[in-house]
Amino acid sequence: MTLNRRTFLAASVAPLLATMPAASAQRAARRPCVISSGNGARAIARAMELIQGGADPLEAAVKGVAIVEDDPEDMSVGYGGLPNEHGVVQLDASVMHGPTHTAGAVAALENIRNPAQVALEVLRRTDHVLLVGAGALAFARTVGFTEQNLLTERAREAWLRWKANLNPHDDWLDRDQQIDVPRTDGTIHVSAVNAAGDLGACTTTSGLSYKLAGRVGDSPLVGAGMFVDNEVGSAGSTGRGEAVIQSAGSFAVVRAMADGLEPTEACLRVLTWIADHTKRRDLLNGKGEPNFQVVMYALRKDGAWGSAGLRKGGTFTVHDGTKVRKKECPSLF
Ligand code: GLY
Repeated sequence: MTLNRRTFLAASVAPLLATMPAASAQRAARRPCVISSGNGARAIARAMELIQGGADPLEAAVKGVAIVEDDPEDMSVGYGGLPNEHGVVQLDASVMHGPTHTAGAVAALENIRNPAQVALEVLRRTDHVLLVGAGALAFARTVGFTEQNLLTERAREAWLRWKANLNPHDDWLDRDQQIDVPRTDGTIHVSAVNAAGDLGACTTTSGLSYKLAGRVGDSPLVGAGMFVDNEVGSAGSTGRGEAVIQSAGSFAVVRAMADGLEPTEACLRVLTWIADHTKRRDLLNGKGEPNFQVVMYALRKDGAWGSAGLRKGGTFTVHDGTKVRKKECPSLF
């Protein structure tokens, strides 16, 4: 089965690549450039404006994603994000700065609406990379962040509906399969490169809706939810974090670009690997395909960009210094 699936996946990637920017377009890659998940149009517009004004690409990315973290309408990030099983919003974020090869991250952070900014302070003010839970909150308070209730009425209602439909006999695997309530494994990722070729990246999320308290996804894990190698490029992910953690997804995309793959090819290579290593029956559909979504985003040092999804429907936004464009991702399935 493994061989058949590999053969199938290899065959399916070739026509996908034919629909992507040709080598000539990639040669015309522009710097500065900013790429984001589909929910990042306003974030990349702001980040590009800041980069064009001389801001550091990481600072620009973090200021860009704050627009989405602050937006109660985006139920996958920051304020208004869907809560965990107990109705508590727990946020994850990470940042990475190419020129200094430094990173900062927070996980399961409560009551602070801009976890990416807290992650940036971890990078700036400490010699640590990742702070979690109560420790992350104490750090945020100490450096001046203000606490607030992040659970909006809309998110609370969604959680109450989820709870009302919860079958006490369901185990933790069944819980994820059921009922028609708003849920998300959405997230925002931004990768940015400035005119000098310096890179920064940021991923921020409220994580999987109704998750077990304390569940940490890929977003705050360096190498999973985002990764930067200033000599090569930057990558990030949205979607089912467990699959991205188990593939070191963003690190793998950057390494694939270092091996010479174009950004879209690099994303497809990692997604193919994820598909090939998805064995659990509850994660496969009737055709043996992964039944979940992962979208990877890649930005090369020269400004070439790409993105791809496991399943149809993934989107991304890109700003190459001229305008914001929203595009559909090529997908494996
Ligand atoms: N990718 C977001 C999460 O799984 O938490």
